[in-house]
Amino acid sequence: MANVGIKNTHPAPSASEGDVVIIGAGLAGLFTALKLAPLPVTVISEAPLGDGASSAWAQGGIAAALGEGDTPEDHAADTIRAGAGLVDPAIAQLLAENAGSRIHDLLSYGVPFDRDLEGTLKLSREAAHGKRRIVRVKGDMAGQAIMAALIATARKTPSIRVLEHLSAKSLEISDNRITGVDLWPSGTWGHEEPFRLMAQAVVLATGGIGGLYSVTTNPESSRGEGLAMGAEAGAILADTEFVQFHPTAIDIGAYPAPLATEALRGEGAILVNRSGDRFMVNIHSDAELAPRDIVARAVHDEKQSGRGAFLDCRAAIGDRFADKFPTVYAKCRDAGIDPVRELIPVAPAAHYHMGGILTDANGRSSVDGLWACGEVASTGAHGANRLASNSLLEAIVFAARIAEDIHSVVPLSPLKAYSDCIPSTRADVSKVPRLQNAMDRLRMLMTEHAGVVRNENGLAGLIKEIDALEQVDTKSRTFRNLLTASRSIAAAALERNESRGCHFRSDFPETNPKFARRSNMQLSGATGSRINAIEPNNQERHIESGAAIS
Ligand code: SIN
Repeated sequence: MANVGIKNTHPAPSASEGDVVIIGAGLAGLFTALKLAPLPVTVISEAPLGDGASSAWAQGGIAAALGEGDTPEDHAADTIRAGAGLVDPAIAQLLAENAGSRIHDLLSYGVPFDRDLEGTLKLSREAAHGKRRIVRVKGDMAGQAIMAALIATARKTPSIRVLEHLSAKSLEISDNRITGVDLWPSGTWGHEEPFRLMAQAVVLATGGIGGLYSVTTNPESSRGEGLAMGAEAGAILADTEFVQFHPTAIDIGAYPAPLATEALRGEGAILVNRSGDRFMVNIHSDAELAPRDIVARAVHDEKQSGRGAFLDCRAAIGDRFADKFPTVYAKCRDAGIDPVRELIPVAPAAHYHMGGILTDANGRSSVDGLWACGEVASTGAHGANRLASNSLLEAIVFAARIAEDIHSVVPLSPLKAYSDCIPSTRADVSKVPRLQNAMDRLRMLMTEHAGVVRNENGLAGLIKEIDALEQVDTKSRTFRNLLTASRSIAAAALERNESRGCHFRSDFPETNPKFARRSNMQLSGATGSRINAIEPNNQERHIESGAAIS
């Protein structure tokens, strides 16, 4: 496979070295824990199970080539095409081939996927998929239903210990091997002394980075802390410049912004501006079903020009709205919009990070004992632009592979009575106005300069601003993580002097074949204020903060 630089061998540790710890209790984390059973695992969850996981918010479904005339090869080909030249073909094929088995796993955990009258799984179509291949639950409720089934199953599984209200913010390593995880009470800024959990194997399943932007469809807690933790532990990052913006977040000023699923456009909903012009027809032959990055930029342009952007579901969906898309319907009604009769105002929103911790086909990172799963990982499956409904799929396919890999290196120990002295009280969420203000500023800067449209001046200035923000608080572990994650996105975006997939540079609007490769980088120095870009031939280049790279 094309991934570079991952050579760890994971020598089998002795059982006394500590637990298998999974950081994150969304789909990736819980599926890994279930697949690891009966191996004892500890799952760290910032919130009560089910709250705060972006998986539960997923309105799309899971792509799988299950329909007549569809094949994993077709699914892989669509995935590769969407990824704008950067998808690892072997990983795309692996994803597509494993989709059917993983859907069956979910069915066995009790996920009630929609079926037709004959009992066959219903398959719907989404943008850039050549076939109908998305399995869904009650239209737009897949994330919620999948998480409910997984949580119920995990709660009944004796090998899974869940620690709620704790937040992992740093990893302990020794000789490039994971030895532990540092935990703080959720909601704090990480000023206090952490509680340390020894670990022989850690799976990062912390989700994405949308919370670093002012407009996002992600929960606020998805703000790149896993990415930063991995980077600070020495893990190689890949493709961090590629942030996917969803074109149709509901634009009502809410944070996070509710999503209006792409499936609405799959059902025929159209995009119009304030004058009623259907602007996508002049931009792409697939109009509203063009690749997501193209639709997101068009919506961005309409809004920037003052013409506004709206989703018109009246003709295509009309009275069927509440029944077919109950989640979107409820969000619209909460905002005082009747989508059966009115237009839905929309805006692009940070939705999914294709970049993350570089992992191999077994989800291993470049640090011994550290795996990454789901959005925090960069497996090579998504390239520069993720195909809709491939993210939940990637999470479950890699969760199963990671579990198998861990089983091969961690001996099965008997269920144990844990003796760790875990803090049992919930800390008050620390309101630190100077950090909250700095966070708001960071989000504004990321949206402005590392958003849908980027350029060299903006990105170079952004990195300088991130460096300056460091001085606001040098002791907060949380804030440091947010700055590290932001810097990794900005530095890679500055480095890529071309436009490709969801990375659009107004100063380099064309795709340049010279850049048809994934990006890799590693933090250098304790502060992470410098980032090394690793060329495929492993020659390293420094990215100095604020400096443009030729
Ligand atoms: C959507 O429902 O529009 C989002 C699906 C996805 O991001 O895969």
